[in-house]
Amino acid sequence: MTLLLVQIGRNMKKIVCETYEDVCNHAADIYVRQLKEKPETVLGLATGSTPVGLYKELVRRYKSGEIDFSNAQSFNLDEYYPIDPSHSQSYDYFMRKHLFDYINIGKFQIPNGSAEDANAECARYEAELDAAGGIDLMLLGIGVNGHIGFNEPSVSYSLETHHINLTESSIAANSRFFNSDEHQPTTALTMGIGQIFKSKKIILLITGEAKVDIAKKLFDGKIHTDIPACLLLLHPDVTVILDKAANGG
Ligand code: F6R
Repeated sequence: MTLLLVQIGRNMKKIVCETYEDVCNHAADIYVRQLKEKPETVLGLATGSTPVGLYKELVRRYKSGEIDFSNAQSFNLDEYYPIDPSHSQSYDYFMRKHLFDYINIGKFQIPNGSAEDANAECARYEAELDAAGGIDLMLLGIGVNGHIGFNEPSVSYSLETHHINLTESSIAANSRFFNSDEHQPTTALTMGIGQIFKSKKIILLITGEAKVDIAKKLFDGKIHTDIPACLLLLHPDVTVILDKAANGG
């Protein structure tokens, strides 16, 4: 159930839903519409806890014949580096487990965490993104530190896909996914702010109590330059969908 729709600045829409399930349903409706309007959509996809329910709902809708991905293709935002794609914590593994193994997507791409040369892999990925014409519909989550993709808070932001050192905050936040005997990568390959900004439409999902503070900052009417997600206030078409928990009740 949608509780509230607010316009933030000129271009950002904020939609508050009652529950996490409502957020996932609301977002899934956007995908159904998008793929009907443009079957050959280029999707940008995220990993992490936030989109799991959305992916489950997209699989359900695919199985019931409501959505068809056969002409679509996708690019994931990021991948740990170094990591083998078969590792249970790689984003490649995550995407297969939650989405790609169950839908009929034409083609999907994820930065290769096992590439020998990280910078060459970033350049290759950027060229693939450009060749596909950029992203039509970009899905984002947000880190508790405000990162989008793995564009970490900084004084400057790379436009293109790049190799980045993760901050202590992101390493700590993601340590929950790794067993104590597993090596957790401290660097990643991520789409840059430029490629995210070239996306025609962006959906940002913010759910759960842990995101209350960062959501407040995003909506307080200022562009905090140390919060990468605040740059989205300058994009022409961003929809932020939150649950009540992330909106502070
Ligand atoms: C992952 C990604 C990250 C996550 C963010 C939130 O592909 O791009 O920016 O969206 O770290 O993660 P969760 O959803 O686990 O809180």
